[in-house]
Parts: sequence; C-alpha cells; structure tokens
Amino acid sequence: MDTSWNSPAPWNPPALWRAEPGWLNTASYGLPPEPAWEALQSALEDWRRGRTSWEVWDGATSRARESFARLVGVDASDVAVGAQVSQLLAPVAAGLPDGTTVLVPDIEFTSNVFPWAVHQDRGVRVETAPVEAYLDAIRPGIDVVAFALVQSANGYVADLPAIAAAARSVGALVVVDATQACGWLPFDGRLADVVVVGAYKWMMSPRGTGFAYLAPALRDRLRPLSAGWYAGLDVHDSYYSMPLRLAKDARAFDLSPAWHPWVGTAPALELIERMGVANIHDWDVGLANRFLTALGQAPGNSAIVTVDVPGAEEKLAAAGIRAAVRAGRVRAAFHVYTTIADVDAAVAALSS
Ligand SMILES: Cc1ncc(COP(=O)(O)O)c(C=O)c1O
Repeated sequence: MDTSWNSPAPWNPPALWRAEPGWLNTASYGLPPEPAWEALQSALEDWRRGRTSWEVWDGATSRARESFARLVGVDASDVAVGAQVSQLLAPVAAGLPDGTTVLVPDIEFTSNVFPWAVHQDRGVRVETAPVEAYLDAIRPGIDVVAFALVQSANGYVADLPAIAAAARSVGALVVVDATQACGWLPFDGRLADVVVVGAYKWMMSPRGTGFAYLAPALRDRLRPLSAGWYAGLDVHDSYYSMPLRLAKDARAFDLSPAWHPWVGTAPALELIERMGVANIHDWDVGLANRFLTALGQAPGNSAIVTVDVPGAEEKLAAAGIRAAVRAGRVRAAFHVYTTIADVDAAVAALSS
C-alpha cells in the first residue's frame, strides 16, 4: 500500500468543488461537486418562478437510481429510492418473522439498529458483537446480519465477502449499510440481500436521498410500507384511488421523491462514475495514510480514521480545520476534494 501519497489528485479539485481548506468531515456530510450544485441552483430558480413541471426534476431520480445500480453492480429494477437509511430499512424489518435474531456490530450507527429493535415486542432480538469479532459471532441461530460496510465511528472496514459467506452458511440474510462506503470503496452489492445507502456523505449529494438494493427473492417476502402514487405500476396512472396497482419491481418500495435533493444527486453520482471508485479509493486512503503516518500511526485501509491527541478540539479549531472530535478522539475523513495541503495543515495543528 502506498503510504506516502504525494502526487496531485488525478482530477482537478478547484474546478469541481468550492471546498474551503480544512474540511475533514465527509463522514458527517460530503460537499457538492459543481455540476450538482449548478443543477440544483437552476432547478431552484425554475421552482421560484414556476417555469417547469415536476416531471423535469423527476428525471433526476431515475438517472440517480441507474447510476447507483451501476456503482454497486446491481440491476436498477432491484433498487428502491427513499430518503433516509432507517426509512429504507423499515419494510425489511417489518417483513421479518416473529422471533428473528439480528446480529449487529456493537458500534453500529443507530439507523441500522433501531429499525430492528422496534420489533422487540414480537420477539425480534438484536444481538451485538464487537465490531472486530463480528465475523466469528455469525453462527446457527442468527437470522440476519446487519452491519455497516464502513463504520462511522472509526472507519472500520468490514470484510463483506467473508461475512456474506458466513451468513449464507447459516442461512442468514445479509443487510449492508454502505452509507460510509459507497462513493469511495468498491464493493459488489450482489453479495448482499439488502444494501442501503444515504447519498449525502461520500456520494456528495443533498441530504434526503437514499437507495436500497432489495434482492428479488427477499422482496417477495416484504410489504412495501411506503407505497403511494410513485410506487404505482404506471406512476402517471396512479394518482387516484383503487385498485391497488403496484410496480412489479423494487419501485414498489419507492418513497415519492423530494424533487430538488434528487436534482443534486444525479450529477454527483454520475461524476463519481466518471472518476472511478477505484481511483477515488486510492486517493482517499492515500491521504488518510499520509495523515496517520505523519502522526506516528500505522497506515490502514480506510478513508475514515481516528487519532488520540490531547487538546485536539482546540488545536483544530485554532487552525480552522473541521473534523469530528469525540471524547478527545479525532475522526478525520478524506475525500476527493481533500488536498495534500489539508492533510498537512491538520497534521501540523495536531502536532503543535
Ligand atoms: C453508517 C451510517 N448510516 C446511516 C447514517 C444516517 O442515517 P439516516 O439516513 O437514517 O439519517 C449515518 C450518518 O452518520 C451513518 O454514519
């Protein structure tokens, strides 16, 4: 692994982003690329003046669904669109039989914990395992493995192929929250039964757009709980009343889209495709490892890292660097608009 990343980015950050120096918090939210920002401004202007019909904005939802499907290697007809991770998981959890046991890592983000836990009154049990021993905790009796591909707390990268194989060997469903992974970590979505992603972090989209890959065999066992007109077989023939006429594919699980966030989402995903996730991975992890090694830590395999530095919050604030600090531990995240100068400024601040 390259631990001394020194070459310039293979794309042109100043032309594509308006990031001010020191944004190391993509694990909280990503910054929009110019094509996404421009498309959004123009749609907002059209909205303000009543210049267009909603169908024009809605085209972005279909483009984004298709782009997401290509990025994770699945069929667009198996992808539902929605707003947030917990909302996208809700119908999956509701479809579990009474008495199901769900295994989650002990540091899992709540949006992939509470959707299961709210079913405890009907015997759905959420079991936790230490994130690093998660694979070993998969055993007969576990019905669902639900885990983040990359943990938001510390950037830990799960071994999806190994976990999926272990889950299959005990007949468990595989549910992946790829919110902190999709956009920088290449992976094969087909290894899972469900892949949910919020697009506002590493896919650099407005808050409020998300995707769920729902494998066809699983979908047949689920009730599309958010179904409305947009989940109809023909959207434009589904505005009013009975009979129930749902889409035959994952669109039955769509939430009708918040138009403007989707207008900003499609161009961002299409840009990621053009840049190539493997290239983004190398850039992001290269910067993360430059940061780690400069602070005397071993390099790793993630775009999100944590370091312990006394007084970190004040040091970073004084240098104008925006990263998450929790209980004295810095969580720094590196993405396409992060520069070598950003990394070196953070290192200098933390070393002062
Ligand atoms: C792994 C992960 N999943 C999901 C979310 C957001 O969840 P939701 O879309 O339900 O707000 C976050 C936010 O930090 C996250 O880190």
